[in-house]
Amino acid sequence: MRIGVLTGGGDCPGLNAVIRAVVRKGVETYGHEFVGYRDGWKGPLEGLTRPLGLEDVEDILARGGTILGSSRTNPYTVDGGVDRIRENVRAAGIDALVAIGGEDTLGVAKRLTDDGLGVVGVPKTIDNDLSGTDYTFGFDTAVSIATEAIDRLRTTAESHHRALVVEVMGRHAGWIALHSGLAGGANVILVPERRFDIDQVAAWVKHRFDQEYAPIIVVAEGAQPSDGGEALQSDELDAFGHVRLGGIGIWLAAELEQRTGHESRCVVLGHIQRGGTPTAYDRVLATRFGLHAIDAVHEGEFGVMVALRGTDIVRVPLAEATAELKTVPPERYAEAEVFFG
Ligand code: F6P
Repeated sequence: MRIGVLTGGGDCPGLNAVIRAVVRKGVETYGHEFVGYRDGWKGPLEGLTRPLGLEDVEDILARGGTILGSSRTNPYTVDGGVDRIRENVRAAGIDALVAIGGEDTLGVAKRLTDDGLGVVGVPKTIDNDLSGTDYTFGFDTAVSIATEAIDRLRTTAESHHRALVVEVMGRHAGWIALHSGLAGGANVILVPERRFDIDQVAAWVKHRFDQEYAPIIVVAEGAQPSDGGEALQSDELDAFGHVRLGGIGIWLAAELEQRTGHESRCVVLGHIQRGGTPTAYDRVLATRFGLHAIDAVHEGEFGVMVALRGTDIVRVPLAEATAELKTVPPERYAEAEVFFG
């Protein structure tokens, strides 16, 4: 078989580990051939390919980003996009595709499968908000980076008797905030799933100051106050169609300073959470996803995504994985609330 591989959406530590596992097992065990598609769905749409042999995947296991490049191109929003993909894939002699991506990329994979192309999906997102899988690779790395940042910010906050607001990624789901906040011992964790009461947050922060501790507030980029601050919604894109970061964190630090009378600072971690080398956990998960994805392709089982269930890798229909986002359930948030204030 000749197999095309692509990575779409925001990049994520572990993408290269998936590509390496797919190619290594595909070539060495099954004798398949590979073509790399550049920049997500833009690759098959515009016929942008690059070689993807064993020598191309040497030494990439620990490297962050993706050697294939990425984009958020959606062929279903382009006139004649699907026909162009079909044509380019046929011209390149491709029998099947491995699409590594989040909800958008895998949503396209599902529709292309319905439209007759053979696609197997691999779930990727630092946000961990894909249904159908217990965890996505990249999440552990992002949480580790955010936790280290919280540990570091705590010592400077304590030295200066300041509140430190740490804004982490997560537009629709607060998994990174929840896990890094728990791991870093945050005094307040704010997530998109639950609107927060700014008076209550200020009271917790003040209480912490009264005990002579420096409060740490972890806020997901998509968290919103229950009233006021609506203009800060991070769901809106800026004039370039880019995601806005920093809105809620900067607003929150200013509000807390004003309401508590104590100095506050905001640190927006942004893309630091996505860059660099994956943790050992993410390398292993990404590698296992890659090995199981090429098995599915080899067996001709398309329209599925590989997924982690407990400690097993299973196949789930792409439809199930892309039906709705996996957000933080109230009972998980309640576990963290015990530590607020
Ligand atoms: O990968 C998902 C994500 O990290 C979100 O948490 C964040 O809102 C978004 O990507 C940022 O996207 P971009 O890199 O396009 O600014």
